[in-house]
Amino acid sequence: MLELRDVQVVFDGFRALDGVNLTVPEGELRFLIGPNGAGKTTLIDVVTGLTRPAAGNVRFAGQDLVGRKEHQIVRLGVGRTFQTSVVFEELTVVENLDLAASFRKPLWALTRRRRGVSEAVADALARTGLEALADRPAGVLSHGQRQWLEIGMLLAQRPRLLLLDEPVAGMSKDERERTGELLTAIAADHTVVVVEHDMDFLRRHASTVTVLHEGRVLVEGSVDEVSADPRVQEVYLGRRADDAVGERS
Ligand SMILES: Nc1ncnc2c1ncn2[C@@H]1O[C@H](COP(=O)(O)OP(=O)(O)OP(=O)(O)O)[C@@H](O)[C@H]1O
Ligand SMILES: [Mg+2]
Repeated sequence: MLELRDVQVVFDGFRALDGVNLTVPEGELRFLIGPNGAGKTTLIDVVTGLTRPAAGNVRFAGQDLVGRKEHQIVRLGVGRTFQTSVVFEELTVVENLDLAASFRKPLWALTRRRRGVSEAVADALARTGLEALADRPAGVLSHGQRQWLEIGMLLAQRPRLLLLDEPVAGMSKDERERTGELLTAIAADHTVVVVEHDMDFLRRHASTVTVLHEGRVLVEGSVDEVSADPRVQEVYLGRRADDAVGERS
């Protein structure tokens, strides 16, 4: 579903990605971890067309993504969240979802008056458990609910691949647990790449983990394999990976 081959991203001579190779099969829930500045967000940026690689290939479902514009990549079926929120606070939950769903529609469809909610919006509401809040302004949502709305906004675009940048940052324990369940449910019929640092969260919800360090893939494997790997322990400042990975940015 997603394949990066020798991808390089250079900012003013600094290699933020330095030859990344990554393969994510269809239907996988893949976790991406690594210290601050490892290149995790840059990797998402390069897949979604926000940043153009200096070299290398990015393929999604058999198509080359390099050189395509962000909106073209969204239309192909790639959705992402940002580290900072992009919800419209004055709009209701359902209006935010509707707006997100409209990004993949042709312009004429937007000018027609719509009755009720589309199937994509109804589905996103149900999956994220936000039905009871559908007509409330997004501004009143708790931090966790707002993150779920953002995930719902992605789902409303009907992507095949979702890239989530630290979706549980700042969440309570209960909210994290619900998010883990939500991600697992989403991965039943999507391919999902999640950037997350929290080791407890990984233990509970991750199967395969890719560790990025200084713009390269350092290790890939199960949570246990990765956290026991001396190279991973070393990049997390020589402490036990368990302690260090759990530390928030
Ligand atoms: N637009 C940019 N211009 C210059 N340097 C950048 C730019 N974006 C990222 N960088 C640099 O590239 C490196 C990788 O950044 P990136 O944001 O991908 O890291 P990250 O793994 O997401 O870190 P964090 O855990 O802090 O979110 C960092 O050293 C960062 O300072
Ligand atoms: Mg980041």
